Amino acid sequence: MTVVGAGNVGATAAQEIAGRDYAEVVLVDIKEGLPQGKALDIDQAGPVLGYEPTVRGSNGYEETAGSAVVVITAGLPRKPGMSRDDLVTTNEEIVRSCASAAAEQSPDAVLVIVSNPLDAMCHVARKVTGWPRERVVGMAGILDTARFRTFVAWETGSSAKDVTAMVLGGHGDQMVPVVSATTVGGIPLTKLVAADRIEQMVERTRKGGGEIVELLGTSAWYAPGAAAAEMVDAICLDQKRILPCTAYLEGEYGIDGLYMGVPVKLGARGVEEIVELDLTDAERAELEASSAAVREVVGVLQHGG
Ligand code: NAI
Ligand code: 2OP
Repeated sequence: MTVVGAGNVGATAAQEIAGRDYAEVVLVDIKEGLPQGKALDIDQAGPVLGYEPTVRGSNGYEETAGSAVVVITAGLPRKPGMSRDDLVTTNEEIVRSCASAAAEQSPDAVLVIVSNPLDAMCHVARKVTGWPRERVVGMAGILDTARFRTFVAWETGSSAKDVTAMVLGGHGDQMVPVVSATTVGGIPLTKLVAADRIEQMVERTRKGGGEIVELLGTSAWYAPGAAAAEMVDAICLDQKRILPCTAYLEGEYGIDGLYMGVPVKLGARGVEEIVELDLTDAERAELEASSAAVREVVGVLQHGG
């Protein structure tokens, strides 16, 4: 498999995947020496951590040929004061060139987009490759859900492993943590935590990326890298996981012609099914508001969505 962009998120995803020991990983970046150096470093952690050193770095795409999955993390991250959407024009050009070069070498791959603004960058990758919606999918929901699960675990004093949740919608401040589908050990969150505290956790989740940008001066990478690796596992190992991912909707959830975060069944063919949850009226309205925000960013794309 291939990871394009050997920066914070790309290198972390490559390291996570290498640690699983089932795939050969090629790490690609335009900066000379960067992917080669990081690949070497990840390989040299293998003997200590117990995986085989099979990561290679490259500044080109030839070595990526025949990849089953290509993860695209190339592009600028946010700086303090920037929204994810501020990155749109610069990252559109970067994602166009990376997706097209990677697709040429691996015409049967599943593309997993990570670069921001995520939902719009999925449109860019699908448009430039012309691939079916099953094989162009975005990573955001696993990360946003992991943030929400973390806050719920802290609030309830429970293990994060026992918190089940889904954050849907666009990867922006109007994302939709689906409270009605959130449980702790099978018990609905609404039975465990007061409504005002739940609302605070929802708000913190929506601004979760920005909270880290303010602290670090750049965006997060440990949780994003782990989330991308979980999608790679599901595809490479044909796990049929139901995970919140950014998929192209054609009428599902009443939304047509737009990439949005929804639960999907992820397997070797990519998005094998879009799962429709029963949402409350309020959650459905929030999802619609989020879709309007995504459409606005898609409208800014130079080459259209
Ligand atoms: P970073 O700056 O650490 O790494 C980006 C890398 O992309 C750099 O090494 C750069 O040289 C490379 N690059 C730029 N243009 C390229 C090209 N044409 N071909 C190949 N490589 C190229 O940034 P970081 O933190 O890794 O973030 C990467 C992207 O992922 C950003 O757009 C960020 O906003 C996004 N992101 C998305 C998340 C999500 O949930 N979808 C979560 C976290 C970050
Ligand atoms: C995040 O949510 C900025 O999209 C990035 O951390």
